[in-house]
Amino acid sequence: MAVGEKNMVNFFPIVALIMFAISIASLFRLDKTINVVSLDNPIFSKAQANATKNGCNLFSGRWIYDTSYPLYTEGNCSLIGDIFTCAKYGRKDSKYQNWRWQPHQCDLPRFNATTLLEELRNKKLIFVGDSLNQNQWRSLLCLIEPYLPPTTNKTVVLEGNLKKLYVKDYNTTIGLYWSPYLVESDCDKKMPGNRTIRMNSIEKHARHWSDADILIFDTFAWWRPNVTILWGSFGSPNAVYKKVESYQRPYEIVLNTWSEWLEYHINRNKTRIFFASASPLRSGKSRWGSNAGCYNETKPRSDDIYWRSHPKDLMKAVESAIENLKEKGVKVDYLNITQLSTYRQDAYLSVYNLGFKDIGLKPRNPAKSDCLHWCLPGVPDVWNQILYAYIIKP
Ligand SMILES: *[C@@H]1O[C@H](CO)[C@@H](O)[C@H](O)[C@H]1NC(C)=O
Ligand SMILES: *[C@@H]1O[C@H](CO)[C@@H](O)[C@H](O)[C@H]1NC(C)=O
Ligand SMILES: *[C@@H]1O[C@H](CO)[C@@H](O)[C@H](O)[C@H]1NC(C)=O
Ligand SMILES: *[C@@H]1O[C@H](CO)[C@@H](O)[C@H](O)[C@H]1NC(C)=O
Ligand SMILES: *[C@@H]1O[C@H](CO)[C@@H](O)[C@H](O)[C@H]1NC(C)=O
Ligand SMILES: *[C@@H]1O[C@H](CO)[C@@H](O)[C@H](O)[C@H]1NC(C)=O
Ligand SMILES: *[C@@H]1O[C@H](CO)[C@@H](O)[C@H](O)[C@H]1NC(C)=O
Ligand SMILES: *[C@@H]1O[C@H](CO)[C@@H](O)[C@H](O)[C@H]1NC(C)=O
Ligand SMILES: *[C@@H]1O[C@H](CO)[C@@H](O)[C@H](O)[C@H]1NC(C)=O
Ligand SMILES: *[C@@H]1O[C@H](CO)[C@@H](O)[C@H](O)[C@H]1NC(C)=O
Repeated sequence: MAVGEKNMVNFFPIVALIMFAISIASLFRLDKTINVVSLDNPIFSKAQANATKNGCNLFSGRWIYDTSYPLYTEGNCSLIGDIFTCAKYGRKDSKYQNWRWQPHQCDLPRFNATTLLEELRNKKLIFVGDSLNQNQWRSLLCLIEPYLPPTTNKTVVLEGNLKKLYVKDYNTTIGLYWSPYLVESDCDKKMPGNRTIRMNSIEKHARHWSDADILIFDTFAWWRPNVTILWGSFGSPNAVYKKVESYQRPYEIVLNTWSEWLEYHINRNKTRIFFASASPLRSGKSRWGSNAGCYNETKPRSDDIYWRSHPKDLMKAVESAIENLKEKGVKVDYLNITQLSTYRQDAYLSVYNLGFKDIGLKPRNPAKSDCLHWCLPGVPDVWNQILYAYIIKP
């Protein structure tokens, strides 16, 4: 019943470091209620009318102001943690919580925690990757927790890099596995390392999630110029280190390592695999400083601008890795959340982040806005609603 939050690794130092590092890197590199479908209405029905082969494109749509959202509040999610809680850190406006995503061709099914847990009974769902996955994991916990009977036995435990919610009544595990480069790196521990990446080594991590039924991967935020690549193992006298300015090729090699691992180790009849596209970093010059592109924003954008700051080339590499896997009979669904998130300049942590925990003691410096991670409730809830649509689709 009690949640072991105290025992959890606090990933915040990593989050903070990466957030500022990315902001700096980006300087150089480059930024009431409509009814929803009921459950028994097949999700993709409307879409099918007009369908591409794959059914409705859930990623193409618009945000609609709808006060029947959010589906939870900071107050009724004890599992929300202490990173994404904007209201707690002093955000006064709350409209950013009231937007729902409306795909152009169909409706998203209304998220139902009970239905999801029934689907996940005796199963493991694990997010593998970086702090954006952590953002989505927390969101998923909060979409579920307030709807569980208060007596439900739920525990959050930490085992190495795996932090997981276990809901005993359903024998369901919903986990977050921290490995920001997917493969082995010196950033796998609590404290950030030197961004040294062992490109061919994934087994050390993968054995912790190889038995999952649903896997959701992501890796973008930590890829920046001047990573160090490593041949051989950490600490070995024969190890060879090389610092490289361009990370595109190392990224592709890592995806290759990942793909091969999936090809040879995943039970294709059992495991469903997802890869989330990059969450956009809102950068660019503003009156308040170069990395404060989201500061004081209170409304979504409605135009189709695609911020320059998301890593297009890395995303292309992911898309082609997914294609290649498909040819080998391994299906990976791409959670193409970049564009839909891009509209939501109003929903980043901004200055309502852990760095300004001591409300009132410190003036809030707009230049220290976090324009990468999202407030909860917020945008990651929609990523999860889309994930939900995939999971419950037969
Ligand atoms: C499907 O698309 C076609 C062509 O784009 C359009 O003419 C038709 O009206 C659409 N059907 C529905 C049900 O939206
Ligand atoms: C992802 O979504 C965007 C916006 O809807 C679209 O332009 C892009 O082609 C999609 N990418 C893939 C690989 O489906
Ligand atoms: C969720 O689904 C369960 C059964 O699967 C149903 O009893 C319940 O009413 C649904 N809840 C909501 C909020 O729709
Ligand atoms: C609980 O779920 C795990 C898979 O996550 C499964 O291996 C195990 O058999 C389940 N236990 C029961 C009692 O069903
Ligand atoms: C969460 O809290 C809000 C506001 O206190 C309340 O309106 C809502 O019903 C609560 N939701 C659940 C699922 O308990
Ligand atoms: C809750 O579940 C955990 C894990 O199965 C178990 O160790 C613990 O005793 C349970 N707590 C209660 C109050 O039933
Ligand atoms: C990073 O590099 C420095 C200097 O080479 C070294 O002292 C330190 O131990 C390294 N940190 C990690 C986490 O490997
Ligand atoms: C990468 O390293 C090179 C050479 O050490 C340096 O000139 C360059 O500024 C670095 N780039 C970034 C983005 O740190
Ligand atoms: C997966 O399913 C196919 C077709 O149903 C079957 O031939 C194959 O043996 C199964 N593979 C595994 C690993 O269960
Ligand atoms: C940010 O918004 C608040 C509230 O609207 C306003 O009081 C403040 O002056 C704004 N800050 C800046 C730097 O514009």
